[in-house]
Amino acid sequence: MPQLDIGVDLGTASVVIYGKGSGVVLEEPAVIAIDRSSRNILAVGEEAHRMLGRTPGNIDALRPLQKGYVSDLNLTCLMLNTFVKKVTNRRLKLFGGPRIILSLPAGVNEVEKRTITGALFEAGARRTQLMERPIASAIGAGLKIGTAIGNMLVDIGGGVTEIAVISMGRCIVRETSSVAGDEFDDAIIKYIRRKHNLLIGGLTAEDLKINIGSALERSEQLYMEVTGRNLISGLPKVMRIYSDEITEALQDPLDKLMEAVHGVLEQTPAELASDIFDNGIVLTGGGGQLALLPEAIRKSLDVECYLADNPHETVARGCGMTLEHWNEFGQFIGNRRR
Ligand SMILES: Nc1ncnc2c1ncn2[C@@H]1O[C@H](COP(=O)(O)OP(=O)(O)OP(=O)(O)O)[C@@H](O)[C@H]1O
Ligand SMILES: [Mg+2]
Repeated sequence: MPQLDIGVDLGTASVVIYGKGSGVVLEEPAVIAIDRSSRNILAVGEEAHRMLGRTPGNIDALRPLQKGYVSDLNLTCLMLNTFVKKVTNRRLKLFGGPRIILSLPAGVNEVEKRTITGALFEAGARRTQLMERPIASAIGAGLKIGTAIGNMLVDIGGGVTEIAVISMGRCIVRETSSVAGDEFDDAIIKYIRRKHNLLIGGLTAEDLKINIGSALERSEQLYMEVTGRNLISGLPKVMRIYSDEITEALQDPLDKLMEAVHGVLEQTPAELASDIFDNGIVLTGGGGQLALLPEAIRKSLDVECYLADNPHETVARGCGMTLEHWNEFGQFIGNRRR
């Protein structure tokens, strides 16, 4: 069903769109495939994602945003444009086009922001507004952010983790860390290469993380069979990988993540820190779904920790809910545009 007003989370791993009154209407990998010589677009989203690491020499399947930054602005705009057009109705241009609330990774600079919002006008938007990601994520996670109580949110995406302490609708402390889903995948690739002389691809590493990975050792050991290239013989090889191995592989990035969260708690004013100790830390983002992560945070920092419902949707949900309940949440939009 075509949507009128939409909330958009432009992430480094996926783009999620929430239609006002409809809920999440699009969720696609933030990947675009182009012909290397002509620069023509061959596929966007799901289809392009299947090409990652599998493309012939003349095709590039890439992520236009990486590690929380824009790596190709033109492709970022093309990708966003395609997704927005997919869910909005061109005939609604008669009514001036959709109103869009958009949330971007922290590393996007002012010039890029202007170009990206410009692309939304090209896609037919009547009005665009930017919402800070932690604020959108907190609204989407159902936190009461308008009060003087401190809430801590840790949003673990694909390319970046955003850690924020929010009170009275504003980020009081906000830090980013490059330790997120992609770094977990890289750590798994390195570990398996070092331990088993087996080279696996990024999608296989991600499968291992999602299916058998966990932040603490599981009570029951799981395993998964993966195919990689034996670095000694150069030939493909199938190997059984155990869940405890993935936990071990993830220890380094997880330690860094705990340090980053600890650092933010240290910078938090005492009254707000005491609220966080009372209410706990809320985990959002797709990477927050790593098994036993709340338990690992609890163990390492001695603070309660919860995973939000549908954690990879909270940012888009927060943007969309702001459109739905403008009187309640509209005040939390910082950067107004047109
Ligand atoms: N069950 C799971 N366990 C562990 N990680 C998961 C799980 N499901 C998804 N992920 C990871 O979540 C990450 C994507 O999360 P998300 O869609 O929130 O990212 P994003 O918002 O696009 O990225 P960013 O916020 O960095 O811009 C990927 O690294 C993916 O592997
Ligand atoms: Mg995200």
